[in-house]
Amino acid sequence: TSAKKGGYPHYMLKEIHEQPDALHNTITPRVKNGMLDFKEDGIADDVFTDINRVIIIGCGTAMHAGLIGKVMFEKLLRIPVTVEIASEFRYNDPILDKNTLVITISQSGETADTLAALRLSKEAGCKTLSIVNVKGSSIARESDYVFYTHAGPEIAVASTKAYMVQLSSIYMIAFKFAMLRGTISKETCEDYLKQLQDTINAVATTIDLDKQIEKISECLTSVEDLFFIGRGLDYPLSCEGSIKLKEISYIHSEAYAAGELKHGTLSLVTDDVPVIALATQEKVYSKMISNIREVRARGAMVILITNGEMPVDDDLCAHHIVLPKTDDQFAPFTAAVVLQLIAYYTSVHRGLNVDQPRNLAKSVTVE
Ligand code: G6P
Repeated sequence: TSAKKGGYPHYMLKEIHEQPDALHNTITPRVKNGMLDFKEDGIADDVFTDINRVIIIGCGTAMHAGLIGKVMFEKLLRIPVTVEIASEFRYNDPILDKNTLVITISQSGETADTLAALRLSKEAGCKTLSIVNVKGSSIARESDYVFYTHAGPEIAVASTKAYMVQLSSIYMIAFKFAMLRGTISKETCEDYLKQLQDTINAVATTIDLDKQIEKISECLTSVEDLFFIGRGLDYPLSCEGSIKLKEISYIHSEAYAAGELKHGTLSLVTDDVPVIALATQEKVYSKMISNIREVRARGAMVILITNGEMPVDDDLCAHHIVLPKTDDQFAPFTAAVVLQLIAYYTSVHRGLNVDQPRNLAKSVTVE
C-alpha cells in the first residue's frame, strides 16, 4: 500500500500534497481567454436570475466550505445566504420557494442527509446546484446543475484536497455570477480569477512549511483542550481547523469567533489550553491582536498564523507561522493547509491512526 500512497506514510499527507494539482485541475478547465466559462459544466448564465436568496447545505467539512461560501457570496453577489447542516435542515420545516437557489456541497455525492435535503428542496420548487467530487453520484445526478470538483479520489477520512477544491469552486461561482449580476466589473472578475490562479502557487509554498509545522505540532502532543480563534473569513476557517484536529488527534477543540470569547469562553482559557489564532484578515487585524492579548493574559500558549510578515510583539505568541502573502480573500486557501498539517502532525505525534480515525467513516450513506 506504500506505492498507493505515492511514498507518503499516510494518504492524508499525500492528499495534502496533491492540493496544487487538484486546484489546477478544478480551475483550469473553466478558464477561457482569461475569463470564467462554465459552458462545459452546462451551467447557464441565468442561474442566479430571479434568485433572491441562497441556501448552502452540506455536512462536516463540506458544510464548512459552505461557511466560507456565505461570506464570499454575500460580499460579491449581495444576495442573502444561509448555511444549513443537512441533518437539521430537513427536519426544520425550511421556508423554500422558486426564488431560492439551493447549493449542496459534497465530496462523495452520496451523503444521505445532504441528498435528502436536496430532494426536499427540489420538491419545494427551488433551483438546485451541487458542488460534487464524484462523477455520476446521486447528488450530482439529482441536481439541476452540477459543478464538479476535480480532486481525484480522496481516501483519508479527514478531507483535505476535496475541501480545497470546494473553496475554489465557490470562488469561481461567486466571481462569475457577481460579474453577470453587475455587482463586480468584468475587470475585477478577471483580476480575481488571476489571483485565484496565483493562489495555487501560494498553496504549494505553504505546503513547504511542512517541517516547521511538524516541529510546532510537537507542543500539542499532550494537550487535552484547545481553541481556534479568528474573525471574518478566519472564523469559518477556524471551524474547519477544529474539526480536522478533533477527527484525527482526538484532542477536544472548539472554534470561536475571537470577539465572542469574552462572552463566556474566556473562562476556559488557562495555561493548559493552547490557542491557534488565525489573523489573516487585515480589516480586523488589530481587533484580533487585542483578542490574542486577552488569551495571553490568561496564560494561553498561542500559535499565530498571519498572511505574510506582520509586526508581532515577542510576547504575543509562542509560535508564528507566516503564510505566503495573498490578498486577504484568498488566505483561506493557504491557511487551510497549515490547519491540515497541524492536525496531521499532531495525530502522528500522538501515534494515532491518521487515515482511519475511530468511529468515523469516509462517506455516511445512512442517516
Ligand atoms: C463524513 C466524512 C467527512 C465529510 C462528511 C461529508 O462525515 O468523514 O470528512 O466532510 O462526511 O461528506 P461529503 O462526501 O458529503 O462531502
